[in-house]
This record gives sequence, structure tokens and C-alpha cells, in this order.
Amino acid sequence: MKIGIIGAGRIGGGIARQLAGAGHEVLLSFSRDQASLGQLAGEIGTGASAGSPADAVGFGEVVVISVPWSTLPLALEQAGSLAGRIVIDTTNQFGAPPLPAEGQTAAVFNAARMPGARYTKSFNTLTSAFQASAAGRSGDARVVQWLCGDDAAAKQVVAGLIEDAGFAPVDLGGTAGCAVMEAPRRAGAVYGEEYRLADAAAVQDAVRAGRPIPPAPVYS
Ligand SMILES: NC(=O)c1ccc[n+]([C@@H]2O[C@H](COP(=O)([O-])OP(=O)(O)OC[C@H]3O[C@@H](n4cnc5c(N)ncnc54)[C@H](OP(=O)(O)O)[C@@H]3O)[C@@H](O)[C@H]2O)c1
Repeated sequence: MKIGIIGAGRIGGGIARQLAGAGHEVLLSFSRDQASLGQLAGEIGTGASAGSPADAVGFGEVVVISVPWSTLPLALEQAGSLAGRIVIDTTNQFGAPPLPAEGQTAAVFNAARMPGARYTKSFNTLTSAFQASAAGRSGDARVVQWLCGDDAAAKQVVAGLIEDAGFAPVDLGGTAGCAVMEAPRRAGAVYGEEYRLADAAAVQDAVRAGRPIPPAPVYS
């Protein structure tokens, strides 16, 4: 697939490497130093190029948005309309206002800032270093990337990309009910915790039923 990346830093750059490694085409964008995007594209090699956020939206059937929270308004302004695009939002709400209202998920808040986008959220719960080192694990040790969104077909596409990136996709439902995968790290949330598939189903069931999730697993 063609994937536009807006914010090719620790998380977005990692996703770009992982997806290009799986044979997807990536266009990297959004930097205070455009030359660094060209350098990263060169490092990634075949299938990678650099451009502007608007180029990323024009290029990608899927657009990954991976910028600091406070910079999201600027990135969205430069991106232009995301209508019709499948978006993967990796952001966490650490930063300056505007912020979600009390009780509102960041996913609902951000989806509203991207009118017409086929919004999903994923790749946001684990540190960039851990994601880089854990991608591609096999068997029982494969690491879960949670996702949420209100467009089932978009989530199916994103689940395939999560697989291609080297993780196990687990769907936590719609944007309004995904608080457990959002910051901050705390008891009763999957944010900040490693999960493997064997422990993910109980979380999914609890979230669907509106129950507290079981304690986070600890792997040796
Ligand atoms: N880091 C983590 O462990 C982690 C884990 C999960 C989720 N997240 C979330 O994912 C998002 C991205 O995090 P990250 O750690 O990948 O951030 P990052 O490494 O700082 O990357 C952000 C990218 O945005 C670009 N950028 C920042 N300000 C800009 C500006 N004013 N104009 C143009 N480009 C600008 C940066 O490019 P230049 O620096 O080249 O200008 C950089 O490539 C955040 O919302 C974060 O909360 C992070």
C-alpha cells in the first residue's frame, strides 16, 4: 500500500521503517529540517520518499499522524483535508491545549479535528524504543498493538498494517470507549504495558462489557 507519514520521528519513523520493510511504499513528511526527511528516506531505501504533509495525504491511502500533541494543529493545517483517508493517529495528549474535555477520549477529540477521515488510533501505548525492539517477534511473544476506531473497514486495513509492522492487532472498539489505551500509564489501563495475544482477549471482553480490565500481565 501507499502510506503517507506525517511526523517521521521516533514513532512515525519506526512505523515507516517497519512498513517499508514489509514492502509498502512510504512518503515521509513534517520536519523543521526537510533535508532530514530525505536522509531518512534514503536510509529506508526502496519505496521511501520525502515530501510535505499535503504530499503525504495525496500519496497515501493510509496516513500515519505521529507528531507531538502541541504540534498537531500545525501538522493538520499543512496536511489539508484528510477526508476519505484512513488515518492512524499515534498521538498522546501530553502538551498544550486544546485538550479533550473531561471524560472525552483523545481519540474522539482528534477524530473531530480530522473531518471526513476514516480515523483510527494505534501504536500509541508503547515506547518507541520498545516498539523498535519488539517488532517482528514471533509466536506467543508477539506484542499487541491495540487499535480503536469507528470505521470497521478502516480498522481491518490498519490491522493488516499492524501485522505487517510485526505486531498483533487487537481491536478495542470505537473511539468513545478506548480510554484504556490512552495516556497516562495507570492501573486499569493497557497504556504503557506490554501485552501478548494470550492476555488480550480478557481485556477486549472487559472493555466490551464496560468492566474493569484484569491487572496488566508481567512477562519474564
Ligand atoms: N516517543 C514515544 O515513545 C511515543 C510512544 C507512543 C506514542 N507517542 C506519541 O506519538 C507522537 C509522536 O511522538 P514521537 O516521540 O515520535 O515524536 P518525535 O520523535 O519528536 O517526532 C515528531 C516529528 O514531528 C516533527 N516536528 C515536530 N515539531 C515540528 C514542527 N514545528 N514543524 C515541523 N515538524 C515538526 C519532528 O521533526 P523534526 O524534529 O525533524 O523537526 C519529528 O519528526 C506523540 O504524540 C507522542 O505522544 C510517542
